[in-house]
Amino acid sequence: MAQRTLVTSALPYANGPIHIGHVVEYVQTDIFVRFLRSCGKDVVYFCADDTHGTPIEINAAKKGIKPEEFVARFQDEHQRDFHDFDIRFDKFHSTNSPENRHYAELIYGRLKEQGDIERRDIEQTYCEKDRRFLPDRFIKGTCPNCKAPDQYGDACEKCGKTYNPTDLIDPRCSLCGTPPVRRHSEHLFFKLSRHADFLQTLLRTPGFIHPGLAAQLQGFFEKGLSDWDISRDGPYFGFAIPGETDKYFYVWLDAPIGYIATTEKWAKDTGKAASALDYWAADADTRIIHFIGKDIVYFHALFWPAVLRVANFHVPNEIKVHGHLTVNGEKMSKSRGTLVPARDYLDQLDPSYLRYFYAANLGAGVEDLDLNLKDFRNRVNGELVNNVGNLANRALSLLAGPLEKKLAPARAEGAGRALVEAALARVPEVREAFEKLEYRVAIKVITEIASAANAFLQAQAPWAQVKKDAEAARADLSDAADVAYLLAALLAPVTPRVSEKLFAQLNAPPLTFQALATAKYPLLDRTGVIGTPEPLLPRMEEERVNAIIKAPDAAASAPQPLAPETKKETQVEVPAAAPAVTTESAAPAVPADIEFGDFLKVALKTGKVLAAEKVKKADKLLKLTVDLGEPAPRTIVSGIAEAFAPEQLVGRNVVVVANLKPRKIMGIESRGMLLSAGPGGKDLSLLDPGNVAPGSEVK
Ligand code: 2FM
Ligand code: ZN
Repeated sequence: MAQRTLVTSALPYANGPIHIGHVVEYVQTDIFVRFLRSCGKDVVYFCADDTHGTPIEINAAKKGIKPEEFVARFQDEHQRDFHDFDIRFDKFHSTNSPENRHYAELIYGRLKEQGDIERRDIEQTYCEKDRRFLPDRFIKGTCPNCKAPDQYGDACEKCGKTYNPTDLIDPRCSLCGTPPVRRHSEHLFFKLSRHADFLQTLLRTPGFIHPGLAAQLQGFFEKGLSDWDISRDGPYFGFAIPGETDKYFYVWLDAPIGYIATTEKWAKDTGKAASALDYWAADADTRIIHFIGKDIVYFHALFWPAVLRVANFHVPNEIKVHGHLTVNGEKMSKSRGTLVPARDYLDQLDPSYLRYFYAANLGAGVEDLDLNLKDFRNRVNGELVNNVGNLANRALSLLAGPLEKKLAPARAEGAGRALVEAALARVPEVREAFEKLEYRVAIKVITEIASAANAFLQAQAPWAQVKKDAEAARADLSDAADVAYLLAALLAPVTPRVSEKLFAQLNAPPLTFQALATAKYPLLDRTGVIGTPEPLLPRMEEERVNAIIKAPDAAASAPQPLAPETKKETQVEVPAAAPAVTTESAAPAVPADIEFGDFLKVALKTGKVLAAEKVKKADKLLKLTVDLGEPAPRTIVSGIAEAFAPEQLVGRNVVVVANLKPRKIMGIESRGMLLSAGPGGKDLSLLDPGNVAPGSEVK
């Protein structure tokens, strides 16, 4: 029997809406699964809601409902959002399910049998008023390093330093504001340290994970792998640990087990497998692939494989890691309204646009992906709506109108046949690009095929020819329709609903990558008739695109889920293109009016650039040394490297936002922001205050 493939996307927390940042991963995975299926592979795609942990328990209590009810609401909402983005799981389940409890207990039992669970007495922060231990993110206080007030117990958002909650000055419980105490408790640890050799070998296995990430994970081995605390004391929303009193599995233990539980539920519901073990038994002939974001690599590449191995389950074969989404060059932010809920997008726009844009920008690496709203509109309108859409429309409307929907017989030779054959010759490039997750390469080839076909029609001008020689026009249009058919097949993993429309308009069965492996000219059954042509997709309108970003006030009043239990303190730093920091190059929704007093809060000053250099691994960034008339010059990191070489800047006068909170960018503390104008990228000009002394006020 052919090998079966099981693909997962990370389980979203049942603690807030799906947003367009999450959608990157689900679209990336869904494209891959649709592609494999089109190639004839036996593939299943699973996901579930991640339901356990302290924040969910506390948020439910705040709403006066049981956590079960709280997570059930998100379960429905999440499923609708995924469905409407054309993401098709074979099963979407929940970690708060009997199947998950069964596998969590089974796996834990095996870890214990193997001597991989150890008890340890640890001291933690405890709130006597709330009568609970406090995860690091539920403790706030003054940063021991930069003295910034109101910082979380694990890291300072101002200076970026990580520390222990005990290091905070004047720590407080973030729930009730009282100072916490330290208290002992017995915890259960998984002896991860015993599995260093296995994990290092796994990380070196070709195809397991991006080699750059494998190299970064080596750092954990050099420091010595720490054992992993898998228990939490009550009150906690999770599964009680068998044989213990008031102890629960830590959410990150049972979350990935949710992948297995979902397989089990699918097997039971569909009868397509006897149980999850058909896929997950250690010796099952399956290819297991996890798609995840770069912030949860540690859990998936270290803890999870080690747990699975000890428990005698199938270890994942591949971990596909992607970067994060930025919007208009900046981290998504609630206050700017750029943390766009999936539903806000869907209320305005067809999902095919975003699926296309994400695909057009996704590669196999972990660099961040930017949704610049202007690029989004231009690219989708230019490539999907105009190029592909117009080709289909031009070919089909003429065939449907004067030529009575009839196709022409295949031609023995000529430009039309050569066009189709050249397009077919490019299919292996698209196939390889999808296989390697280089979707942007696939999209490039697809648009080149469409452009060639449009150029062919332009040259043949069948709209003129039809009046003189209808059969010659029919032959050209039929060849162009063949290319449209091919494009529908190639785009089907990315924009399935566009392809379905096109197949229907061509009155042809869906064309798969499997069929394309042996397909030859002509692709369409030339004895048949086509269907009824209609425009495939309308152009994206600017107002609709801008409307996905809600005015900050509206966004701020949206329900604010509590921060995750821990910041991903185990996060792996990965090389990524850093966000541009000086410009908002798209056309964002016009911000609400501000008072003059608000404007006065911004300290604008003139400065002189004393030195400039490129920032390593960040091709958009320059590190500048700027004289602002202060005792020492400032370091400012600016996203203008595409527009200016460092040497062009030295000696230039600039305008700087001087009272912007310092911010770490690629590990460099940036103190201020240069003002610039223009759409961004290469197309940017710096504001020049003229010849004034550094430090002069701009008003
Ligand atoms: O980081 C997150 O959003 C987690 N809910 C992902 C869990 S993925 C898997 F391990 F369950
Ligand atoms: Zn408290």
